[in-house]
Amino acid sequence: MPRLSGVVVVVTGASSGLGWHLALGAARRGARVVAVARRLERLEALEAAIGAAGCPAPLVVQADIGDLAQVESLGRRVEEECGGAQVLINNAGRGAHGRLEDLPAGVVDRVLATNLGGALHCTRVFLPQLKRHRPGHLVFVSSVLGELPAAEHAVYCATKFALNGLAESLDCELQGSGVGVTLVEPGLVDTEFALVSGRPPGRFSRLPASGADQVAERILRAVEGGRFRLIPDRLAWVGIAFRRHFPRSARLFFRAAFRRLLRESQLKVR
Ligand SMILES: NC(=O)c1ccc[n+]([C@@H]2O[C@H](COP(=O)([O-])OP(=O)(O)OC[C@H]3O[C@@H](n4cnc5c(N)ncnc54)[C@H](OP(=O)(O)O)[C@@H]3O)[C@@H](O)[C@H]2O)c1
Repeated sequence: MPRLSGVVVVVTGASSGLGWHLALGAARRGARVVAVARRLERLEALEAAIGAAGCPAPLVVQADIGDLAQVESLGRRVEEECGGAQVLINNAGRGAHGRLEDLPAGVVDRVLATNLGGALHCTRVFLPQLKRHRPGHLVFVSSVLGELPAAEHAVYCATKFALNGLAESLDCELQGSGVGVTLVEPGLVDTEFALVSGRPPGRFSRLPASGADQVAERILRAVEGGRFRLIPDRLAWVGIAFRRHFPRSARLFFRAAFRRLLRESQLKVR
């Protein structure tokens, strides 16, 4: 996928954070962006920002990607109004902070339905379009927590580990189909994510967070360069390499680190 100019790029979760900057960055490269999320007023603000930058007008679609019927309808609209997609960026996602037994079942279901179900629905619906318009490209925005554990983020971690399996398997399955795959594993990014997840303010505050605009730019460059795996920040890269090469030591390290973190947060609650 050497250039995004003139290409139809579907971005899920385009109403804020990484997705907003992915949509804006793709539009600035001359792509026809299909911006998808549930909050229509945010999508309309994105549409205005894209217009103000003098870029091609996006197609804005309000949809919940966890709902297959809505994703199928999205697929039909992209076909009818844009002639089909060439790039799908599976970016929409949410977290849920808390011990597994304390999380309401509805929250667990929503995290699974969005992070994993949504990516599966969108990929299945758009793959035929990407193949028809090849070279096509599929992007999965996973997380450093697609390879590392995190206490009080077990459900989120489970979905991101699953997303990694999906991306790596499709990378094998789609060989020769003209559709490339990029798997992105960001560390902390400065977005609304923590707020939506209910993560306590200050948790992980000692760790550096990347700017969403910078991470989005690196993702778009990875798509253009046909790169499979992108770990945009150095600390995430070090953590992942440590766990891959020294799994036993990494397990001990993460257990100790989270024991300390949980103890500190309990002390704060008292
Ligand atoms: N921020 C981080 O530290 C970090 C680190 C690693 C990975 N990530 C990953 O990066 C991706 C983007 O997150 P972000 O940091 O940009 O967070 P964010 O600002 O909260 O953005 C999440 C986006 O997903 C959309 N979304 C959530 N549920 C949806 C649903 N059911 N259907 C359609 N859209 C939905 C939201 O829009 P609506 O609410 O309008 O639907 C929003 O646009 C996520 O996959 C996240 O797991 C984030």
